Amino acid sequence: MANRVIAIDGPSGAGKSSVSRRVGKQLGFLHVDSGALYRIMTWQCLENGVDTSDSAAVAAFAKMVEVECRPEDGAIAYYVNGEPPGDRIRTPQINAHASPVATVKEVRDRVTAILRGMTRYGDLVVEGRDITTAVFPDSPARFYLTASAEARASRRQKEEVEKGIANQSAEAVKASLLARDKIDSTRKHAPLRKADGALEIDSTELTLDQVVEAVLAALPADWRG
Ligand code: DC
Repeated sequence: MANRVIAIDGPSGAGKSSVSRRVGKQLGFLHVDSGALYRIMTWQCLENGVDTSDSAAVAAFAKMVEVECRPEDGAIAYYVNGEPPGDRIRTPQINAHASPVATVKEVRDRVTAILRGMTRYGDLVVEGRDITTAVFPDSPARFYLTASAEARASRRQKEEVEKGIANQSAEAVKASLLARDKIDSTRKHAPLRKADGALEIDSTELTLDQVVEAVLAALPADWRG
């Protein structure tokens, strides 16, 4: 049997990572953070002096970035030049440049090919913006996770402070998040949108446990273990 894929899309801060990790752990599916691949592409552009507003330069450079994927501790881990990028891809600077980089078709094609290749490692729970619409549109388990802009900004801000990545005001985090949402949902190639047939879950008033339960309950019966 081909390996199974649970696909979860939604805007920044909707809780995709926490939910995907928990669902993956519960079912023994590997967690895949597709946004991290766009962040790696962005980070490598910046490290190598590539102007992220120059799509042709980004497209040419994206072909040269090598990302190694390894299944590790229940997730697909990424390595660049033998090292995990860690929080270097989570800075406000990367946040600001990732959306423009993710509009470039060649970057999307590259990341999509990497993601599709991961099914060789096992069953997957993949989170992102175009997983339900473009990368794995045929999965029978597709979800659109959302929450109010205030809830999403407040979660992101707490996370940044807790991890010591940044200390921005809730307003600044909200502005940056809305700016990214806009680019992500209006771009030409594979914009963020709810796929036909995906189950929408609004997590504004729900706990993490409740969202995980809702996802598990909606899976095909024989996937639930
Ligand atoms: O989920 P994230 O914030 O780590 O995503 C980083 C950027 O990559 C964000 O601008 C959206 C983009 N992205 C995308 O276009 N498609 C995906 N499948 C995942 C992320």
